[in-house]
Amino acid sequence: MKIIMLGAPGAGKGTQAKMIAEKYQIPHVSTGDIFRANIKNGTELGMEAKKYMDQGLLVPDELTVKILLDRVAQADCGQGYVLDGFPRTIPQAEVLDEALNKLGEQIDYAINVDVPDENIVKRMSGRRACLKCGATFHLEHVPPKAEGICDSCGSELVLRDDDKAETVQNRLRVYHEQTQPLIEFYTGKGILKTVDGTVDMQDVFAAITAILG
Ligand code: AP5
Ligand code: MG
Ligand code: ZN
Repeated sequence: MKIIMLGAPGAGKGTQAKMIAEKYQIPHVSTGDIFRANIKNGTELGMEAKKYMDQGLLVPDELTVKILLDRVAQADCGQGYVLDGFPRTIPQAEVLDEALNKLGEQIDYAINVDVPDENIVKRMSGRRACLKCGATFHLEHVPPKAEGICDSCGSELVLRDDDKAETVQNRLRVYHEQTQPLIEFYTGKGILKTVDGTVDMQDVFAAITAILG
């Protein structure tokens, strides 16, 4: 099963993608997590990506597409995957489509996690992220067992550089301009499913599993 998660920054794509990955035993592939791991390790890719991410802008398609296609070509993606944060532009979606077509494959579902802008800023300021394993917490909604420490791997939790209020506004603007058109793109392909992302995360997940079966 091949799934795409769509939704504004902070809508809960990552939260839901992790749950889907676990239930359906497919890898969770997040371009944001890949970039953040590269930044943490000080790679050339990471340094390049950081310039854009810290401003709330998209990393150029040329860089992003190659990384994603390399990742989904790996053996563990053979039975499918859940993509979180990719595609984010129409050109990215077209490249993905083309690559899959060549293999005689296609995306099965594009799941749009719908959350209005007003709710987003509040969520972001409370989020705490583990840069080592990609786990996410929220000071109110999903507090870690020990303050400031990742439940999964024991690393330190941080407020992401791009979760500052000014940057979040920029990310929302970029989302509406460049990513939201994908909703129409996948509606046209007949695979778009929208779920209400404002309810409790277990209820969001129940709505998603009702779709995926
Ligand atoms: P990325 O890492 O993808 O960030 P994003 O899209 O801005 O999304 P987030 O990770 O911030 O939010 P999310 O939807 O995953 O929400 P989460 O589950 O954490 O990308 C970062 C940057 O990398 C981009 O800005 C760009 O620069 C670059 N990039 C990445 N991919 C790219 C691409 N394809 N092309 C170009 N550039 C790219 O949830 C948010 C918070 O809310 C958490 O604290 C969570 O605990 C809480 N929460 C979740 N669900 C609920 C709920 N139902 N109720 C209450 N709280 C909830
Ligand atoms: Mg995420
Ligand atoms: Zn961790």
